[in-house]
Amino acid sequence: MLKISATSKTLAESPHKYTRFVITEESQSSHRFSENTDGTTTYKTGVGKWDKVDARGFRTLIRTLVQAAKGHEIEAFALELHLTDFPLLTAYGEQWFLSTIAENLTLATYEFTLYKTKEKKKLLRDILLCGVLSTEAKHGFERGTVVGDYINRARDIANTPGCDLSPTKLGEAAAALMTGTKATVKVLGEKELTKLKMNALLAVGQGTHNESKLIVAEYWGAGKTSKEKPVVLIGKGITYDTGGLNVKPSGFMHDMHLDMSGGGAVLAALGAAAKLGLKKNIIALVPSAENAISDTAMRAGDIVTAMNGKTIEILHTDAEGRLVLADALTYSERYTPRAIIDVATLTGASLVALGQHASALMTTNTHLESTLRTLSEETGDLIWPLPLWDEYKQHLKSHRADISNIATNFSRYGGCIEGGIFLSHFVPKDVPWAHLDIASRMESIPSDKLSKGSTGEPVRLLVSFLEQY
Ligand code: BES
Ligand code: ZN
Ligand code: ZN
Repeated sequence: MLKISATSKTLAESPHKYTRFVITEESQSSHRFSENTDGTTTYKTGVGKWDKVDARGFRTLIRTLVQAAKGHEIEAFALELHLTDFPLLTAYGEQWFLSTIAENLTLATYEFTLYKTKEKKKLLRDILLCGVLSTEAKHGFERGTVVGDYINRARDIANTPGCDLSPTKLGEAAAALMTGTKATVKVLGEKELTKLKMNALLAVGQGTHNESKLIVAEYWGAGKTSKEKPVVLIGKGITYDTGGLNVKPSGFMHDMHLDMSGGGAVLAALGAAAKLGLKKNIIALVPSAENAISDTAMRAGDIVTAMNGKTIEILHTDAEGRLVLADALTYSERYTPRAIIDVATLTGASLVALGQHASALMTTNTHLESTLRTLSEETGDLIWPLPLWDEYKQHLKSHRADISNIATNFSRYGGCIEGGIFLSHFVPKDVPWAHLDIASRMESIPSDKLSKGSTGEPVRLLVSFLEQY
């Protein structure tokens, strides 16, 4: 287990077992070790001019330090950083600074080792952050370690292969995430889903013996009887996406155990909020199913009646995420939400639109849009807006049912937006709603300076949103 702790002591006072990490303004390629007279080791690394380091650069800087420690097989290192040294960051404040350090140290140290039978000999086990003095700084550090920890737990769940993570198991993982907090979890099975007429969700899971579930996590931090209505987070929980009868081509299927990343993220965000004791009411809904192939699987051309009574022509069985989310959106109505945010690895088209650096944001609510975009820059879970204009609506006009799940002309143009448009038909009336298509941020890329696999996004963004909204 990795330990990340903070102390008011200076770097020079840190115990001898820690390699002392010192950043300099030299170029980023320069780094060297030196032995000190007291027997300790210092590792100096250049990060470039400090007055050029913005929030994005700072997060990368922290992650690069962890990568360096891993690369040199350092088991313990100490570090001391001060906000006043970074003029572009001072406006964010001490709490943000320490939280950002703690989050990114925690994220960068993560490795998915569950299936490795041989442990690496030298693992990074201990990081000490020195010079943490003010109460604000301490709070920030504690917040950051909690958030980082929950993100890593979301990554663990997402990285688990489909053979070991069915909807039932996802429900169990949700309950485990909430232990030690005041959040509760209940899991509805197919009998209850049938009673609720959640036929769109049921259709997606009808091709497998793995039972579909609706995972419901509740956290009433403001009090259940208070006037405050909850924020509802909804996350796509497809535990494996073969594409269904419209099977995915080889090369596009092996990572589809990550298709429940949105579900994992909303559960982790609620768990972190509960752990931090936020005085907010929050609900997380995860409609979970496996999109499998069999003689009982849904067919292209099938028509289902969703929970809200709308009929859907399933023109493509690989556009399953929007089907399960549709019923979860309808289900959310019972909470009379203050706002709804759904998070889903919904479309490959989000990668075409944005590359792998940002998730797509779709909303018609300007307040939600500006809040989320500001927090996106603050937290590092980058998002960028796409429109939900009426012009796109006609693409989904079915001649056989109320709506089709993909464009009726089978065009892939604007596929990411069409995903958002489809969902908008199931959002409870007049509730502020935002859709985050996180397919583009499902897996890390080398410039993230994170281990391969799930990024755990957008847990940081969601936690900050829940704190502020
Ligand atoms: N889970 C996929 C989307 C996805 C693709 C996530 C690549 C991560 C990486 C989703 O269910 C899907 O297959 N969507 C289809 C929609 C299409 C049929 C309109 C897609 O993107 O091809
Ligand atoms: Zn799919
Ligand atoms: Zn999918």
